[in-house]
Amino acid sequence: MARLGVVGAGYVGLVTATCLSELGHHVTCIEVDETKLTALGAGDLPIHEPGLGELVWKNARDGRLQFTADYEPARYAGAVFIAVPTPSGDDGSADVSCVLQAVDSLVPHIQPGTVIAIKSTVPVGTADRIAALQSVLNARVEVVSNPEFLRQGTAVHNFLHPDRVVIGAESTEAMEQVARIYASLEAPIVAVDRRSAELAKYAANALLATRISFMNEISHIATAVNADIDDVARIVGMDRRIGPAFLRSGLGWGGSCFPKDVLALTSVAARHGCHTPILRAVYEINQRQREYAAQLLIDALQGIDDPIVAVLGAAFKPNTDDVRGSPALTIAEQLLRKGVTVRLHDPFALAKATDVLAEIDCRPDPYSALDGADALLLATEWEEYYDLDWILVRESMRGKTVVDGRNALDGALLHGLGFRYQSFGRATRTNGNGATPHEDGFTSPLDVPGAVAE
Ligand code: UGA
Repeated sequence: MARLGVVGAGYVGLVTATCLSELGHHVTCIEVDETKLTALGAGDLPIHEPGLGELVWKNARDGRLQFTADYEPARYAGAVFIAVPTPSGDDGSADVSCVLQAVDSLVPHIQPGTVIAIKSTVPVGTADRIAALQSVLNARVEVVSNPEFLRQGTAVHNFLHPDRVVIGAESTEAMEQVARIYASLEAPIVAVDRRSAELAKYAANALLATRISFMNEISHIATAVNADIDDVARIVGMDRRIGPAFLRSGLGWGGSCFPKDVLALTSVAARHGCHTPILRAVYEINQRQREYAAQLLIDALQGIDDPIVAVLGAAFKPNTDDVRGSPALTIAEQLLRKGVTVRLHDPFALAKATDVLAEIDCRPDPYSALDGADALLLATEWEEYYDLDWILVRESMRGKTVVDGRNALDGALLHGLGFRYQSFGRATRTNGNGATPHEDGFTSPLDVPGAVAE
């Protein structure tokens, strides 16, 4: 088993370090943020990620996983993974300064022949750029690109059961050294050059985002023609060339990855003189989903004094407490600006949500958020929202509007109980009062000139 280093104890670094130790390697995770380090020392994880806490505890107890602010233990590592943030810069390009800083701090400590594996999502050419740094050349270390494909909420499973392990390397030795680290996983190793590995990571995320935006576009057509988007997605996904994943329409994609990566890919392309009309449309459609939902709510609140909206879910998706890029917060902010009182519930993400939007009224349970509310927005499809006592909710809410931002609730049930259920392209038989959307009295912000109401 190898001695390894991981720089960064954020979501990717922490999962990588922990899962590598779970594979039997001895891993030192280097984190410069003392607060995070102290929390980890006390057994507190900085993120909510199912299954991760147990593995951190077990592997730390067994002596295979340690956390430190010191780069010195990297001296004994055969490979060091860089997993630090690459946030969007002002122009949308990925800011790689943390990666360069980490390499700078690491290089004086490592032995010749060590592999530096870049896990952070970086613009194409970054690994080449690092390999060409004088300090890196002098240290005689290898640089490989080893992008990660973890999803928040299922990251431990994704790491231990990956679809593929991508290693972008310029030498066979470096590639094989990294491949040996993953040898116990049942996954194909895809050995390519560094630039292809870096571009593949962006392309994968951008394609997933494209599928969602595409289905969101189709969902508006479904609404207009009174077809059902769930049925359409099911039929489309049964085509083996297409597959069923990432076809669910609703508020669209958030998080720290898709928004940043779509913008970063657009920016890389522009720098190289390539046009990216698809990526631009994918991004724009995603933004408009949020505006559409906010408009549905604002329309429903017309004429109500001191309106109250209950937003269920703050995280950008279930099983995480991450609110970065979360549609819930963008919509909540738009409502607050219109003078609407916004009550928010989330089982794990409330603390992080209030860091972003202090004015929000956080509630400890969904019923308290819904009590007296004029409208409900389901923004994150946490499992506990499926089983709400809807009769109780109906009695306690002041209004009857339910905007199902994730097409996750039982529309027919809610319609039957007298709610004005609104979804993203589900058939009107479960949508509000059964009338067509136009008769239903709201105008879609996505209305296009020349459109014909049926
Ligand atoms: C995404 C990718 O799925 C991972 O493969 C990648 O490693 C990761 O980014 C990254 O680059 O680090 P993640 O951001 O954790 O993972 O979340 P996803 O599960 O991909 O969901 C992204 C967003 O799309 C969420 O807001 C989710 O609600 C939304 N979504 C997903 C839909 O709106 N519809 C769908 O059908 C699926």
